Amino acid sequence: MFMDQFLITGSSRIAGEVTISGAKNAALPLLAAMILAETPTTLHNVPSLQDVRTLIELIGGMGIHIQKQDDTVTCDTKNIDNFYAPYDLVKTMRASILVLGPLLARFGEAEVSLPGGCAIGSRPVDQHLKAFEAMGAEISVENGYVKARAPKGGRLLGCHFSFDMITVGGTENVIMAAALAKGTTVLGNCALEPEVVDLANMLVAMGAKISGIGTATMTIEGVERLHGCEYSVVADRIETGSYLAGALMTRGDVLTKKTTASLLHPVLEKFEAMGAIITTGDDWIRAQMKGRPKPVDIRTQPHPGFPTDMQAQLMAICCLADGTSTIIENIFENRYMHVPELNRLGASIQVDGHTAVVKGVEKFTAAPVMATDLRASMSLVMAAATAEGDSLIDRIYHIDRGYEDVENKLRALGVTIERINTND
Ligand code: EPU
Repeated sequence: MFMDQFLITGSSRIAGEVTISGAKNAALPLLAAMILAETPTTLHNVPSLQDVRTLIELIGGMGIHIQKQDDTVTCDTKNIDNFYAPYDLVKTMRASILVLGPLLARFGEAEVSLPGGCAIGSRPVDQHLKAFEAMGAEISVENGYVKARAPKGGRLLGCHFSFDMITVGGTENVIMAAALAKGTTVLGNCALEPEVVDLANMLVAMGAKISGIGTATMTIEGVERLHGCEYSVVADRIETGSYLAGALMTRGDVLTKKTTASLLHPVLEKFEAMGAIITTGDDWIRAQMKGRPKPVDIRTQPHPGFPTDMQAQLMAICCLADGTSTIIENIFENRYMHVPELNRLGASIQVDGHTAVVKGVEKFTAAPVMATDLRASMSLVMAAATAEGDSLIDRIYHIDRGYEDVENKLRALGVTIERINTND
């Protein structure tokens, strides 16, 4: 197994321009949605990431013709020969569960491995399954697999359903299924994340009838068939925020291009409160930072609140702030694994349950550290880039799951970074 490491020589001022890729968390549901179309679909601005490769392999394994060339994925579902998502692939990426709704809606049956827990929390999929049951599906869990079957006649039935909690993946899975259901589905307590909106817009381009997009209640009038379309993945707001964070940590100046400020207002507001000068245009955002960051208090919340996927990167900025910040993680129960690693780099963070108290220090100091999950990895990379000396970051496969071309982008921003291939 390849266990690459990053060697980062610190003391960088993070400054320069970086082009933002398509969003991982939009690309994954959009790829799953391709299963719904009877004619070929083309998706542009798809990032080259391990998670994208995994989902393409999963869909290809069903006999569907799907391929990626550069940033474009084409998919033709003419020849599907099974409706099965095996444990081997699902265990590496929880978003695989997103094929369940499309398979069930289009073919009336699916067998998808139940994703296990993951590093950041137990992450059940009960809400997805509850909604499919409300649409008349028969669901059983056998030998670690979810077996789902549409009611007699092979089509799911429109229904009224309200999620018990806000779930991004749940909302996505169910709107895909409802698009082909018989009758109208009214979904309450939907997630409002930009990636959910992107999916709903692509479904409309495929012929779905959805109203209330971007609000908590979506109404989906099921249609008999969906056709292919050409669509482009929305910019990655988390990648954007991650690189801008570098400017705040190093009195730097970062210009992110091919991205959209309206996608990340809650993050930009905090950056401004920390002292950054944020300027934006139609498709760019720039963060300039003069002094030391000011401390802030944040609590992660569903959109339009502060995103959990930026919590670790924001914490890395707080570590260098001139005062004490408080962070409350409300979405996942175990998303502080970067804390001991940041402390190894000289930070002063204490965690009590969901709350982290971050006492600002003047600087990070180099140390060997271990990446624990995708966003945690980025906080460590940024911290190491500012630290004096060489830091070795282990287990960077986490970062490859979600940040396209990360070392070249970091180099363009002035970070001295080298990938070390270790072949275990
Ligand atoms: N939840 C349940 N039951 C469900 C569904 C969710 O209890 O049926 C809980 C989860 O355990 C969690 C909370 O509800 O505590 C929110 O989970 P959600 O379903 O919203 O998350 P997700 O769809 O599994 C997506 C992103 C995550 C991001 C979250 C929250 C993708 C592929 N993943 O996950 O992204 O953190 O929404 O915004 O879209 C990342 O990119 O690093 C990442 C983890």
